[in-house]
Amino acid sequence: MNIILIGSGGREHAFAYKLSQSKLCDKLFIIGGNPGTAQYGTNVPININDFSIAGKFCLDNEIDLVIVGPEEPLVKGIRDFFNADSKLKSIGFIGPDKIGAQLEGSKDFSKAFMQKFNIPTAKYRTFTFDNIHEGVDYVQSHSLPVVLKADGLAAGKGVLICESNEEAVNELEQMIREKKFGDASAKVVVEEFLNGIELSVFVLSDGNNYKILPSAKDYKRIGEADTGLNTGGMGAVSPVPFADDAFLKKVEERIIIPTINGLKSEDINYVGFIFIGLMKVGDDPFVIEYNCRMGDPETEVVLPLIKSDFAEMMKACAEGKLNEYKLEIEERTAATVMLVSAGYPGDYEKGKKMTGLNLCENSLLFHAGTKLNEDEILITNGGRVMAITSFGNNIGEAVSQSLKNADKIQFEGKYFRRDIGYEFVN
Ligand code: AMP
Ligand code: GLY
Repeated sequence: MNIILIGSGGREHAFAYKLSQSKLCDKLFIIGGNPGTAQYGTNVPININDFSIAGKFCLDNEIDLVIVGPEEPLVKGIRDFFNADSKLKSIGFIGPDKIGAQLEGSKDFSKAFMQKFNIPTAKYRTFTFDNIHEGVDYVQSHSLPVVLKADGLAAGKGVLICESNEEAVNELEQMIREKKFGDASAKVVVEEFLNGIELSVFVLSDGNNYKILPSAKDYKRIGEADTGLNTGGMGAVSPVPFADDAFLKKVEERIIIPTINGLKSEDINYVGFIFIGLMKVGDDPFVIEYNCRMGDPETEVVLPLIKSDFAEMMKACAEGKLNEYKLEIEERTAATVMLVSAGYPGDYEKGKKMTGLNLCENSLLFHAGTKLNEDEILITNGGRVMAITSFGNNIGEAVSQSLKNADKIQFEGKYFRRDIGYEFVN
């Protein structure tokens, strides 16, 4: 099987690593890619949102399977583009079409979907320019904190948790009237704050059957003890200790099955990953958000725990035969620690020389923002630079192994959190 993977982060390095372990994987190409993915295949410098060039590349290289990493091309309709072409249509494809991707691309769509299918989530209302006066009245008297969400994709920045009604009114006005997040905030979802512990569950759907992957928890804040600004994710652990069988049974019965059935009854042929962001409130799961892809850095802990053949799972999914695939998961725990550039998530410098990778032992090093300079020397090329994943019998063991290697890799301005998984370690 010749496979194309789309994307260029740590998530895609983890995908490339797993795919390359399979004897089913002949040629692997990565549209985007980084020096990490280049260890397993050929990076192809095509703009991931240029679907016609991607399509031509697939035909020229006899591609059998396309796997899309990030949300943007999905929300923009890459699958629809392939489906509309008589030749491209026959290529296996992992990633939902434009309508399915609305689960992530529009908060209003996903909230209405959850409401329609009785999937537990926070109570909400949606406002636009046309009913902004009603919106102002609504947030003025809303219980606190109140959560405001830009409807569209806003690079992870579109969610505001307001501690006062005045702040909420002001933010609502800015989002809708002043387009604080551009067109993404022309519509705003206002919802109740859920008080609990967050975790994520990942589901792979072939449109009919599904497989549940290990749960994970990511650490979004830049500072230790979950302080400071939000980032794309500073580390992750999997599985999550409090997501025990009883809790996961509730997730499956109340959320996963109604989601899969809801998609079917809306005639959405959803083939791809569904990332379900959850809040555990008391003992019960509530959906905070859906994403139409895997998480990053969650992928860097979830995929390494898959023991069975990953390329075979992707193939079975694309063919609508996930029911025939036996998913096997390692008994161990995985943790990942993200090395980031000084200044991240604000402004940061790139181009810092990286050393010490060859000194690392017993961890998987997933490249995120790295590149080779003209002298073939590895340099930093992003805010999140590298995810260091390790296994252990428990979270403490896995994290401390990653930290040992985090100390060995050097680049100017390196920063990482030493407390990933802190609430599970004594
Ligand atoms: P999202 O972009 O939807 O993942 O939201 C970003 C973050 O905001 C989430 O990971 C939660 O930490 C927080 N959040 C979103 N919605 C709620 C809510 N209804 N109650 C509490 N926290 C929330
Ligand atoms: N780590 C969160 C995300 O991928 O959206």
